Amino acid sequence: MNTKLLNKNDIDEAAAILRSGGLVGIPTETVYGLGANGLDPRAVGRIFEAKGRPQDNPLILHVPSADWLERWCVDVPETAYTLAGRFWPGPLTMILKRGPEVPDVVTAGLDTVGMRCPDHPVCRAILFAAGVPVAAPSGNTSGRPSPTTAAHMMEDMDGRIDAIVDGGPCAVGVESAIIDLTVTPPRLLRPGGITLEQLREVLGEVAVDDAVTRQMADGEKPRAPGMKYRHYAPKAPVTVVAGEAIFSAAWIAAHAGEGDGVICFDEFAGQFPAQTVERLGPTYDHAEHARRVFDALRAFDKTDVPAIWAQCPDISGLGLAVTNRLNKAAGFHIVEV
Ligand code: TXA
Ligand code: MG
Repeated sequence: MNTKLLNKNDIDEAAAILRSGGLVGIPTETVYGLGANGLDPRAVGRIFEAKGRPQDNPLILHVPSADWLERWCVDVPETAYTLAGRFWPGPLTMILKRGPEVPDVVTAGLDTVGMRCPDHPVCRAILFAAGVPVAAPSGNTSGRPSPTTAAHMMEDMDGRIDAIVDGGPCAVGVESAIIDLTVTPPRLLRPGGITLEQLREVLGEVAVDDAVTRQMADGEKPRAPGMKYRHYAPKAPVTVVAGEAIFSAAWIAAHAGEGDGVICFDEFAGQFPAQTVERLGPTYDHAEHARRVFDALRAFDKTDVPAIWAQCPDISGLGLAVTNRLNKAAGFHIVEV
């Protein structure tokens, strides 16, 4: 299959491919997604094939507005509309009770469904033109870092899908936050573009799922099935060095081998002359860390570094999502300094 590269003006073509059962790479504000008509089980099945994604990992549905919740979900709580009013369109996915028209293959048989309304003009135009909810996981091959540019998605999906729409680099850079509204108190299943602090401001108490901060043991089932898989991982093993930046930089400088890879904050880049360096941005700029983290991880796959050492932000704001992605890329191999 020849994967066509479309641009932001090719909205009707992208929507037509989706409606006819094809797969389209779509830009969102978080990461690129691999979209299919969420009402067409065969099309959705092709997503799992193209990504090599385990069948027990459900997909989220992308819709153009909160008006669509009623149609695809049941017993929608008032809090869902409150959150939508505050954060949609935007990087927040809500887990709600699934309506009868949502195919089993989308939810991997769960009685809940993830709903997201992305904030990217090209994506929104495609969703409106398609007129169907679009099932879309991140557009990477299963296990690899999520793509934040059309070129990254092409690396993984060239020849496997019908088209990719280039909507420029993603503004947020990490995936949406996932909040489960079917439990009390609401539970954060994956930290993301909307922060835990923002969610608590609206909802009051919010629990944080264990899978956010630690490795799931064999047989343990996180509420977001995808959180149990090794993810975001480059080919070389990653070690996260957690702690105050000045100390983690010194620790890495003392322990990294010649020719290793280092992910570090800008201020410390000069401390690793014998290593290949990817910068995350200034130490306290969590939004920049979020934009850079997947590109940094992915960049090492073009090198032959034998090991990667990563500095890690604190967990305030977007730092929680960045820390979670780095820890997962490291298989929770973390050194505390
Ligand atoms: O920002 C995003 O959310 C991106 C863009 C493309 O929208 N999408 C994305 O999808 O990250 P994906 O499939 O890579 O991650 C979705 C996560 C998975 O961990 C999956 O297990 C979880 O959401 N999930 C989906 N449906 C669920 C459900 N009904 N209950 C619990 N977790 C669910
Ligand atoms: Mg993903």
